[in-house]
Amino acid sequence: MRKLKIVLVVGARPNFMKAAPICRELGKVKSIEVMLVHTGQHYDHEMSETFFQELGIPEPDVNLGVGSGSHAFQTAEIMKRFEAVLLKNAPDLVIVVGDVNSTIACALVAAKLRIKVAHVEAGLRSFDRSMPEEINRILTDAISDYLFTSCIEANHNLKREGIPANKIFFVGNVMIDTLCYELRKIKKGNPGDYAVLTLHRPSNVDDKITLQGIISGLNKIAEYLTIYFPAHPRTVKQIKKFRLELHENIKIMKPLGYVELLELYMYSRFVLTDSGGLQEEASYMGIPCLTLRNNTERRITVTHGTNILTGPDPERIFEEARNIISGRIKRKKKLALWDGFTAKRITRIISKNKANLFNYGK
Ligand code: UD1
Repeated sequence: MRKLKIVLVVGARPNFMKAAPICRELGKVKSIEVMLVHTGQHYDHEMSETFFQELGIPEPDVNLGVGSGSHAFQTAEIMKRFEAVLLKNAPDLVIVVGDVNSTIACALVAAKLRIKVAHVEAGLRSFDRSMPEEINRILTDAISDYLFTSCIEANHNLKREGIPANKIFFVGNVMIDTLCYELRKIKKGNPGDYAVLTLHRPSNVDDKITLQGIISGLNKIAEYLTIYFPAHPRTVKQIKKFRLELHENIKIMKPLGYVELLELYMYSRFVLTDSGGLQEEASYMGIPCLTLRNNTERRITVTHGTNILTGPDPERIFEEARNIISGRIKRKKKLALWDGFTAKRITRIISKNKANLFNYGK
């Protein structure tokens, strides 16, 4: 019998941590052949290549080299180039992860070519369609055949949208697989008196008044402790463009690699962020997390984790930070199936369904 041919797609920074354990587990199955496609949505060394090296992801078999652009341009360019790859290689299954433009672009191309699609991290909803990722999530889920979810609430969201229950698989959080795996490499350290900040959402950094407000809240916190700020290139550009002043205790740095960032935040007092992944990672680690957004698609980090939503409101950000500094800390509860074995469960489900995947569309 021939091997099952799978194309695994990555494109932007948060995809790499999700793809690494899936690559590793699928790679152990002799009857499966994996082809890794990088869309090139992220291309700077510290936004892409560095993660391949440290997370042990093999070199992509294909890099579409798409780069930056407007949403329509980027999505369309990925679709054009990815279609050629699928036509040439005729895989049985395309796996997409997360909610970036590469996710929806590649899922859409595969679905139209009648190639089955698996979506890892399906069913997350912020219920805020002004967020580009929310559109990507809803559309990708609507056309996927295997929907792998990280929490039960995601299953409910999908069922509410009419997705048949037999397509939905609660497998746990694949990001936590990477976290568990990489944690073994970390040297023991001592807790430090500092916070860690990441900030890159268009809703927070593209509007001058909003970004100015957030920074004024952060500047007040910086009166009490140092804030390390590994900054996304987009945010650096915006701070310069709007000529905003950061307190001298806010230490702006280049984007960090996975392990470097982990080492930094795991010993911090708390994390300030608008990233999706960090809300989950901080919750898993029991580190207080303030999310500078009004909503989150990862509600489980609020109900079961350490996450508190502050929105971009400077007063609220400062108040919540002050609570943490004065020792009022939210404790985490158990997060079901966030255990380091999610990629194994995904691989098992794909292997069990091999016969169906071979026959699809033929
Ligand atoms: C993308 C994802 C977002 C994710 C984030 C993580 C979408 C819609 N958004 O947002 O969900 O949280 O990645 O980083 O897919 N840039 C560089 N170098 C790079 C990449 C980007 O300088 O390697 C700059 C460019 O100016 C670019 C801008 O960042 O225009 C935005 O990049 P883009 O990929 O469009 O979106 P992100 O904001 O990174």
